[in-house]
Amino acid sequence: MSSADFLTDFHHVATIGATPRQGVDREAATAEDAQSRAWFSKWVTEAGYTLHVDGIGNMFGLIEWTPGAPFVLVGSHLDSQPLGGRFDGAYGVLAALHAARDVDELVTTSGTVPPFNLAVVNWFNEEGGRFAPSVMGSSVFAGLFDQEQMLDTTDLAGVTARAALADIGYLGTDLRPVTVSYAEIHIEQGRILEREGIAIGVVDRSWYTQKLDIEVLGEQSHTGATAMADRHDALVAAAKIILLVREVTADFGEDAIVSSVGQLTLEPNSPIVVARRVRLVADLRSGDPAIVQAARATLLEKIAALAVEHDIQINVTDFDIRPIRYFPEDGLLVAEQAAVRAGLSTRRIQTMAGHDSVAMNTIVPSIMLFVPSVDGVSHCEREFTTDADMVAGLAVLTEVATDLVHGALLDPAATPGVLPSVRA
Ligand code: HGY
Ligand code: MN
Ligand code: MN
Repeated sequence: MSSADFLTDFHHVATIGATPRQGVDREAATAEDAQSRAWFSKWVTEAGYTLHVDGIGNMFGLIEWTPGAPFVLVGSHLDSQPLGGRFDGAYGVLAALHAARDVDELVTTSGTVPPFNLAVVNWFNEEGGRFAPSVMGSSVFAGLFDQEQMLDTTDLAGVTARAALADIGYLGTDLRPVTVSYAEIHIEQGRILEREGIAIGVVDRSWYTQKLDIEVLGEQSHTGATAMADRHDALVAAAKIILLVREVTADFGEDAIVSSVGQLTLEPNSPIVVARRVRLVADLRSGDPAIVQAARATLLEKIAALAVEHDIQINVTDFDIRPIRYFPEDGLLVAEQAAVRAGLSTRRIQTMAGHDSVAMNTIVPSIMLFVPSVDGVSHCEREFTTDADMVAGLAVLTEVATDLVHGALLDPAATPGVLPSVRA
């Protein structure tokens, strides 16, 4: 496979669900997601690999050199945020497809059949924009989330993930590959690699994350006839909460914590009606769990005071709490040595964003790689990574996938007959 083939495929997939300003809009289980899934299916079957779709819509392209042997998984996600970037997730899936095919060609030409098979995965609903929580398909695969419960989640229109997947024909029944290790490459979505001029980030840990589901219950009334003293305006209180979520970060060091309210629903949302109900989702993240917990405590205290001040009810529910997870040291070494072989600079880096690799790392040893993001922006149409950086990352992922199918990261005792091999 050539890097030109990879780039042709990548830039083609970027046209699926493309937005006018070079972004993509391919939310989970939408028609646009279905188109990208159809493209993935066609690529896998035309390459001669076996396509499996599991019960939560995860897609696997299986390369089975040794019938019955377990699989190394490489992949990411094709779904996007609304008006999102064309690199987030899609780069990792396209790189995984081409890396897998390169490994397959190496196996064919060398005649050396590795002890483990290889599969490329497109995870369902990593983004969580339509169906919350995010990182859904891989978390079900890893046993962190219950499949039926996740299929029952609904979007803002009340459509369940189950119905949406069935509508696009990807509510699968296929078996999941038995998996021994995982690798993923992704854009950094931050500005460190770019600012330091580093080609490859080797992710060593994830940030502590939690969401707050905040329901503000006021009283509906006429905007033009109700005396101000008689109003119980849910939207005014919600507006103050949105500012509190932002302002609480100032209680800690610069960039020690990040937070925003990204989603708001308003009832009844009429220009002549004082709002009776607002639902907000706040996202709090830090490299230090104690900071998130302190910020949360401050928010709950101030929100309780707002409820009294406005004589309204405010319910706050924690959800999608994710502890810090550490990637295995020997995986970091495999990645760093692969980058050296590819002649690329590396640095260890934390991920603030959630990823499928974080879920997978709870069940099998996993490796997570980053390539630079221009200006460090993501989840927006301006998201950008250069062709050269993508191709460099592909070379490293191919090296890593080769090591993994030869048993790297695996305990020889646990996998008899297989020596861990980080190729010389
Ligand atoms: O949750 C996340 O951080 C990811 O972008 N879905
Ligand atoms: Mn992503
Ligand atoms: Mn994302």
